[in-house]
Amino acid sequence: MSESIPTPTPAPTPGHQPGVSVRHTRGKGEPRFPDGPKPDPAGSHFERRIRSFQPRRSRVTAGQADALQRLWPKWGLDIDGHGVIDLAELFGNDRPVVLEIGFGMGEATAQMAAADPGTNVLAVDVHTPGQGNLLNLADHLGLDNVRVANGDAIILLREMLAPASLDGLRVYFPDPWPKKRHHKRRLIQPEFLDLVAPKLRPGAILHCATDWEPYAEQMLEVLTAHPDFENTQADGGFAPRPEFRPLTRFEGQGLDKGHVVNDLLFRRVQQPVRQDAPHRDEPPTGA
Ligand SMILES: C[S@@+](CC[C@H](N)C(=O)[O-])C[C@H]1O[C@@H](n2cnc3c(N)ncnc32)[C@H](O)[C@@H]1O
Repeated sequence: MSESIPTPTPAPTPGHQPGVSVRHTRGKGEPRFPDGPKPDPAGSHFERRIRSFQPRRSRVTAGQADALQRLWPKWGLDIDGHGVIDLAELFGNDRPVVLEIGFGMGEATAQMAAADPGTNVLAVDVHTPGQGNLLNLADHLGLDNVRVANGDAIILLREMLAPASLDGLRVYFPDPWPKKRHHKRRLIQPEFLDLVAPKLRPGAILHCATDWEPYAEQMLEVLTAHPDFENTQADGGFAPRPEFRPLTRFEGQGLDKGHVVNDLLFRRVQQPVRQDAPHRDEPPTGA
């Protein structure tokens, strides 16, 4: 276990009156959390023009800041794109690993990890308060099967995960980007599925949920059309909400607005059956 790092006491400023608290302002270039997640781990080299998230500077509570300082060195991972990660080393065991993209504040992530200690959860988001919150939850619940990744999931998938290294993927309430001109920012698209499919073991489940019905329809369409995935539902439609998925924060907000929630459960197929395949009895491609 890493030692907690004392917060540096701010130097008295000119005109400072004893007994009056002074907010420590960071110097130029001084990191927000010296031992925590890096502000831009992949740097401009990996800059993607179209992103599925919007950078937001939200307030980090004292508890979240403490968790980031104390627990990041132990459970955090910056998505820097610098090489393929050894997941067994990251988790300290070779149990199955499920990736969750966009965990938000991490309440559902922590609940699912607590309910299934035999599965490792690699949870990725760019949202600093959420990273602190999830670290705190994992600490309080005594979880050793959660690791928190900071940065763009696309870079993680593209540069840092080995083929067939994942046993599942969860994408719960991804940003819906409702305006037409923003649809290209939506995560679930054919190109995303092309990127994800080789990282999933055959039989792995891709589980999506959304409260934005037009996006749900788009998800169903692109997943159904993709040759590397098959619907777990015999009728080819949405899945009943599985009991193992807890209510998420964004889902609650959507339900308050009267939105309908749809779950999609698709399986990574064993052997892609492509319509243009010249011979059906060709040997497996190793997918
Ligand atoms: C609408 S929130 C949903 C959060 C949570 N799943 C819930 O249901 O409460 C979507 C989250 O996905 C994150 N996100 C979107 N695209 C991402 C990406 N490419 N990499 C990492 N996180 C991403 C956003 O930062 C945001 O926290």
